[in-house]
Amino acid sequence: MSAHSSESEPTAALLVSRRASLTSEVILLELRHPEGRELPAWSPGSHIDLLLPDEMVRQYSLCGDPADATTWTVAVFLEPEGRGGSAYIHRSLQEGTTVRTRGPRNHFAFGSGKRVLFIGGGIGITPLIPMMAEATERGLDWELHYGGRSRTTMAFADDLLTRFGSDRVHLIPQDERGLIDLETLIGTPRTDTTIYCCGPAPLLDAVETRCAAWPTDALHIERFTAKAVDDDQNTSFEIELSATGVTLTVPQDRSILDVLDDQDVPVPSSCRDGTCGTCETMVLEGVPEHRDSVLSPSEQESNETMMVCVSRSRTPRLVLDL
Ligand code: FES
Repeated sequence: MSAHSSESEPTAALLVSRRASLTSEVILLELRHPEGRELPAWSPGSHIDLLLPDEMVRQYSLCGDPADATTWTVAVFLEPEGRGGSAYIHRSLQEGTTVRTRGPRNHFAFGSGKRVLFIGGGIGITPLIPMMAEATERGLDWELHYGGRSRTTMAFADDLLTRFGSDRVHLIPQDERGLIDLETLIGTPRTDTTIYCCGPAPLLDAVETRCAAWPTDALHIERFTAKAVDDDQNTSFEIELSATGVTLTVPQDRSILDVLDDQDVPVPSSCRDGTCGTCETMVLEGVPEHRDSVLSPSEQESNETMMVCVSRSRTPRLVLDL
């Protein structure tokens, strides 16, 4: 992962070339350049921002074929208690309309591993789909455990069974089989297995807890909702901007990004809750207190970069590459 990955991120107004309903709550959108131009390359695990009216920005994983340079595919779940982004998309993004996009970026890259366990919950299945295609191409030993409320809500259930077969694809509709049996799946640490997991926060939290005894970096997860953070113990600290030597104070009730915004220091941002990776900034001195949901444990331990929208400081001063 590189710092400042979004500074040169391309934005584009793309055409909705196809829209399909996968379930009563999930639509599939195919996006193309209006003049048929090629879109930026991406790899399994990547997501894009959809830039919506009223400065709403929403992240969606690309779930099509990375080899198809003309089409990006996303699946959008209509969030019942959402803040309006998915409702706007369901209502307004019909075939023939355009939508502004930014990215792609990838904080959930598919790496190596002899044996791969995919765990997907609900719409969290989307980033895993191109990974499964790549794992198949690479001849890896893999299996998927895909949970959802019921079979009819699992947008890609039939498609995945057809593409990859029931030896590999295990469907766990909650109303038929209960929750994914994590104890059996990952209760015992293995050194030959890499886990890729995306889904609702309770699933991710449960998987993270059970993987505590697994080798470092065996688990790769992607969160689209922020981890719960206790702000009560926040303290103030200083940041120094290396380019100018300017020192700023970050009060206990504001984020680094807030303070940088106040001073018109340009730092790209999107989610502002530590989930998208857009505000990743290089740390030159000091020790950050990482509160993001993007960096892996070893990336956090290296303290090379931090997400300035949520993370704070363990030391009185941080020097940032800004
Ligand atoms: S703006 Fe999304 S992680 Fe900071």
